[in-house]
Amino acid sequence: MGFPTQRLRRLRGNAILRDLVRETHLEVGDLVYPMFVVHGRNVARPIGSMPGVCQLSVDRAVAEAREVRGLGIPGIVLFGIPARKDPVGSEAYDPSGVIPEAVRAIREAVPDLLVLTDVCLCEYTDHGHCGVLRGEEVDNDRTLDLLARAAVCHAKAGAHVVAPSDMMDGRVRAIRQALDREGFETTPILSYAAKYASGFYGPFREAAGSTPQFGDRRGYQMDPANGDEALREIALDLEEGADIIMVKPALAYLDVIRRARERFPGVPIAAYNVSGEYAMLKAAEERGWLDGPRVTIEILTAIRRAGADFILTYSAKDAARILKDRGARSS
Ligand code: PBG
Repeated sequence: MGFPTQRLRRLRGNAILRDLVRETHLEVGDLVYPMFVVHGRNVARPIGSMPGVCQLSVDRAVAEAREVRGLGIPGIVLFGIPARKDPVGSEAYDPSGVIPEAVRAIREAVPDLLVLTDVCLCEYTDHGHCGVLRGEEVDNDRTLDLLARAAVCHAKAGAHVVAPSDMMDGRVRAIRQALDREGFETTPILSYAAKYASGFYGPFREAAGSTPQFGDRRGYQMDPANGDEALREIALDLEEGADIIMVKPALAYLDVIRRARERFPGVPIAAYNVSGEYAMLKAAEERGWLDGPRVTIEILTAIRRAGADFILTYSAKDAARILKDRGARSS
């Protein structure tokens, strides 16, 4: 019973009908906005490859957090740029470091905004790797304790959720145990469970000053060619106590998001629409090669359609404005 009885175009005939049968919904409530925090006062240093995104001092980050909440975005994820980098990433777990300071200030000024923190050493180490070194290798097991200290330090400052992005084996368990020991048994862990060794992180490394000084991250982040392995990473992180799992990057890995959705029904899944994905969109938009607002919504909707419950994205503020405009026009 195909054509002409079946005509799928019938439900595409007008906007109200299309809205009625739409399968995937994108809402501002699905978005989390990443922010980069630096020391100093009244600093807003633009990141060249990420138009609209700046490194912000705590005072300016508070103002931005207020704006983000005002747009209806429920949460932010914070990355810190330390005053000083050293081989063991000391500021990553320093209670007076830039992240604890930012968390305290934002929690106080914008109480209804969810504050997530990225837990990793790469922004804080002078060699730019995500853990401590033994020779030229990242020493997995010696890194775990430092990551756990960083997570506890963020929780003590008031982080609602900690998000480890380092890709060390066993870090979710180490962080869970440390949080529980310190009385933070109710603080959730969002694990960057399937994080690939991706060229799409280029602009982020400019933003965070975290480019490895030698070698690359292929010794701990995943091979972009692997999908089955992502499911093993996710299963292990869930076993170790992850509350939310994340796939990163998002756009070139929609199949991984979809497979995770099918393999782990009921598990909250996040996706990270990373810096390079944002940079490509903005570059094409600046040249007039793409319709920016349209493609922004298309990309985020596609990530939701693949199976992500929510999305970390530098487009969050743009998307919030676009969705609001559309709502105003259709009502
Ligand atoms: C830190 C970290 C990275 C990103 C998030 N956390 C960079 C990396 O692993 O090199 C990338 C985010 C982005 O590109 O937007 N480990």
